[in-house]
Amino acid sequence: MNHSILFVCLGNICRSPMAEGAMRAAGEDRGAALVVDSAGTGSWHIGDPPDRRAQAAAMANGVDISGQRARQIVAADFDRFDRIVAMDRSVFADVQALRPKAARGAISLLLDHVPGREGQDVVDPYYGGENGFLEVWSDVAEGAEALLAKIARA
Ligand code: 4NP
Repeated sequence: MNHSILFVCLGNICRSPMAEGAMRAAGEDRGAALVVDSAGTGSWHIGDPPDRRAQAAAMANGVDISGQRARQIVAADFDRFDRIVAMDRSVFADVQALRPKAARGAISLLLDHVPGREGQDVVDPYYGGENGFLEVWSDVAEGAEALLAKIARA
């Protein structure tokens, strides 16, 4: 089993880096061969490490995301990845608008993979406090586990 997944948010410094870390950790735990990456729709933070609060929330859950650097989604990503997974509905709409017509990758909303949480957003924690980041971790970890279970069944 070899699957490639790109997680996408707005800035690529909070939610999608945490989702990348959670998915990589879940894959390692289960011995799944995954290619995991993340990107943002926006360009403000290109080259930046994840927000300190995102790093802290990941580390509190045993996952080190400090080596990640933000980048912006590019057209080639739609061919490089099997799945492109958006963190909220606004990002989902933006990613859909960027998708080249002949692209390979399927676009989905992260929490659509979690039974009972379909249509829900992973809420942008950027302007909130530390607690928001722990909630994001819990959401992305739940989403990553559900996605991995789905991939493993496919
Ligand atoms: P993210 O959070 O999309 O989860 O990385 C944000 C980070 C930065 C900004 C917005 C959201 N910003 O406007 O700079």
